[in-house]
Amino acid sequence: MRTRAGAPPRDVYAGGVNTRTATADAGLDPVDGSEALAALTAAATELEAQQQPAWPDTAALAEVIETLASYPPLVFAGECDILTDRMAKAAVGEAFVLQGGDCAETFASATADNIRDRIKTILQMAAVLTYGASVPVIKIGRMAGQYAKPRSSTVETREGVTLPAFRGDMVNDFAFHETARIPDPQRLVRAYHASSATLNLVRAFTTGGFADLRHVHDWNRGFVANSANQRYEKIAKDIDKAMRFMWACGADFDAMRTVEFYAAHEALLLDYERPLTRIDSRSGRLYDTSGHFVWVGERTRQLDGAHVDFVSRISNPIGVKLGPKADIDEVLRLIDTVDPNRTPGRLTFITRMGAGTIRDALPGLVDKVTASGATVTWICDPMHGNTFESPSGYKTRDFEDIVEEVRGFFEVHRSLGTIPGGIHVELTGNDVTECLGGAEKIIDSDLEKRYESVCDPRLNHQQSLELAFLVAEMLGQA
Ligand code: PEP
Ligand code: CO
Repeated sequence: MRTRAGAPPRDVYAGGVNTRTATADAGLDPVDGSEALAALTAAATELEAQQQPAWPDTAALAEVIETLASYPPLVFAGECDILTDRMAKAAVGEAFVLQGGDCAETFASATADNIRDRIKTILQMAAVLTYGASVPVIKIGRMAGQYAKPRSSTVETREGVTLPAFRGDMVNDFAFHETARIPDPQRLVRAYHASSATLNLVRAFTTGGFADLRHVHDWNRGFVANSANQRYEKIAKDIDKAMRFMWACGADFDAMRTVEFYAAHEALLLDYERPLTRIDSRSGRLYDTSGHFVWVGERTRQLDGAHVDFVSRISNPIGVKLGPKADIDEVLRLIDTVDPNRTPGRLTFITRMGAGTIRDALPGLVDKVTASGATVTWICDPMHGNTFESPSGYKTRDFEDIVEEVRGFFEVHRSLGTIPGGIHVELTGNDVTECLGGAEKIIDSDLEKRYESVCDPRLNHQQSLELAFLVAEMLGQA
């Protein structure tokens, strides 16, 4: 399937929050942004893009693309550059990345409470991981744009009825009836507004005192007070001691009331990402202003495909998912295409191998990438290689497999002398029952109680914290 050409964005302002010049930082000459933007738009008609919806009304789509192109950026080039610097630190072990959030955000669940609870979960996990890693944790939500999904089949059949697959709220409706499943380009506009509102809350919750490390630590004390989580009491007590030590030394707790928090999503729907790509007024370079960090998924990372081409033209920090069948020559060519200048922090490989496969599949990749002289940030997604259907028919994951994949990730990197740079997880702040296991011992018959994901199963609040404590233990064993 081919994507359609988008109207070139009119509003090309992408600078703003940060006065540093990207060109000075990156040591690059200013480039002609308008030429680069024209080339990016032209590529839309020339390259094959996998996983795009068949929009039935192309005139309506063209109008929507123009509308999106006229809207303000959601994030700013200067913020993306700071995140690139942060990711560069994670590549060399001076920071650790925590990416987490829904598999698929939905418009209905973009409520203040849900967003707050997801941020809270990530902050709680980050506090524990910071202690375990003894380095700053880079907090990145899979949110404010995670509204489109790649699907293994273009259709879904239920009880003999076949309809187009649900491709995310940005495309069509989850409800299983004919009109609901028709791709509607107006949903791209809704996704923009939902992302904007989400980011507004993210910015408020992470700078307005909610993120104060003392609160976060109190919430974690509540978690270990539960008898099921006694096993983690020792780390919680150690953190307690460290907090009191910092306080006694006169550490500036007021400075810890605010955290940096970034937004990430899969750059899947090019009819959304392209019109939100703007020229940075400081440097002339292009940034996808729909999110700070965008990644290319396992199903769309073809070297000659439109997605890899798209991310190679923007200056955001970029992720690429790598599954167990990733071919090393292709991976090396991906580095050449996405990160030709070998910019520290530019490229992150998010590996999703499966608990039973990671120890065999990952070492060869890491070894050859390292031998090539490239420095990438390695992150473990322990979710997507561990999905299966439970006997009761739910798509699920077992907490044990998730932990085991992270354990394998650390083992592989430690044996090679390379850096395990972070984790990427699907989670929610709610008490859903989507993944099996954990201290609450969720079993198959519990899944139906509160299974809310419209796509992949997420760790619930408790399971997320438990994972953070376990990963903190792994980090502490360095
Ligand atoms: C995802 O992150 O939800 C996803 C679809 O992952 P992958 O591309 O690794 O399968
Ligand atoms: Co998923």
